[in-house]
Amino acid sequence: MIFSALAPLLRIPAVAGLTQQALLKMDAETAHGATISALRLGLAPEQTRPDGAELRTSLCGLELTNPVGMAAGFDKNAEVPRALALLGFGIVEIGTVTPRPQAGNPKPRLFRISASDGVVNRMGFNNEGHDAAYARLKGLRIPAALGVNIGANKDSDDFVADYVTGVTRFADIADYLTVNVSSPNTPGLRNLQADEALTRLLGEVLAARAKARTRVPVFLKIAPDLDEAALDTIARVVLATDLDGLIVSNTTITRDAVLGQENASETGGLSGKPLFALSTQRLAQMRQRVGTLPIIGVGGIHSPQSALAKIEAGANAIQLYSALVFGGLDLLDTIKRGLEAAVRAEGKTNIAKLVGRNTDDWAAGRVDWREAR
Ligand SMILES: Cc1cc2nc3c(=O)[nH]c(=O)nc-3n(C[C@H](O)[C@H](O)[C@H](O)COP(=O)(O)O)c2cc1C
Repeated sequence: MIFSALAPLLRIPAVAGLTQQALLKMDAETAHGATISALRLGLAPEQTRPDGAELRTSLCGLELTNPVGMAAGFDKNAEVPRALALLGFGIVEIGTVTPRPQAGNPKPRLFRISASDGVVNRMGFNNEGHDAAYARLKGLRIPAALGVNIGANKDSDDFVADYVTGVTRFADIADYLTVNVSSPNTPGLRNLQADEALTRLLGEVLAARAKARTRVPVFLKIAPDLDEAALDTIARVVLATDLDGLIVSNTTITRDAVLGQENASETGGLSGKPLFALSTQRLAQMRQRVGTLPIIGVGGIHSPQSALAKIEAGANAIQLYSALVFGGLDLLDTIKRGLEAAVRAEGKTNIAKLVGRNTDDWAAGRVDWREAR
């Protein structure tokens, strides 16, 4: 059962006569759970060839062997960060974790949009809470940057206090923290992106960080569903603090890119290929507003070309999740090799030289991005 469910993700040969097509029709959350189990059992392949020097980069003082990360939401409970690092991710972000465990929304809550390699989820921060994640991470050393993505309990009467608790709890064991205010599946959460609420949130979060033994870098993860005025506000608030960087972006509540497709009308956040153009434009628009502040670009990366485009739009590092559901985990290696080749083809020595060289075109919507690329 585990092997069958895993085949689409890990490219393990199907057993029991099931075709890959049939496996992709299995319930998405069951397949995900089985994938985590297999990674926990050490069944995933490990990277054999070291990353090329072209991919080495630094992010807020973190030295990365490569700039490609696993996005939050895949390993919500910090069960497999080491396996993911050994697979070759340069960054592994666990969570979102909330102070208390919570069940999340009723199932089904995770849907594939197979026609366009999209995913809709309304998981609702299902997670085992801070204590469980902390117990797994304490004393753990992995060959990648370890991010802990923190959030608020749905029934909390003080969202800000929940983030402060997260900072205090994980500051000394994470390489960086992500303040996630952009999940569409916790009512009211995204209001924390508004001017005064964000000012208060970042003030309290960064004050808590200052009290910790370690000065852990803190990122803010934002939604793609923000207009230019909202981006202006976030940039102004962020630049007035010592926040270390942004993650652009979370999933979208829009459906323009998938109208009429199966599962497109499910409530939740859309990710994967159909999110690529929107999230990349928002990334570039944010890059124009924040100068050289580090940005991790995420949303719809599904190929070496889309990974490169994200970097050229202004990302210092990238993350992905949904494309792995359709392309398997070998996509990671394909993307890294493609990025190495792109650096060499441009006559450069390092990926950092390509960051932001196409920001203005992306920001203005002048890039004619075709999903077929
Ligand atoms: C099933 C699922 C669960 C997710 N859970 C979280 C989460 O807990 N916290 C978070 O910050 N982002 C979460 N995300 C968003 C991803 O981290 C990422 O921002 C988004 O999916 C866009 O990247 P992608 O198109 O490569 O998937 C989740 C995404 C998916 C598909």
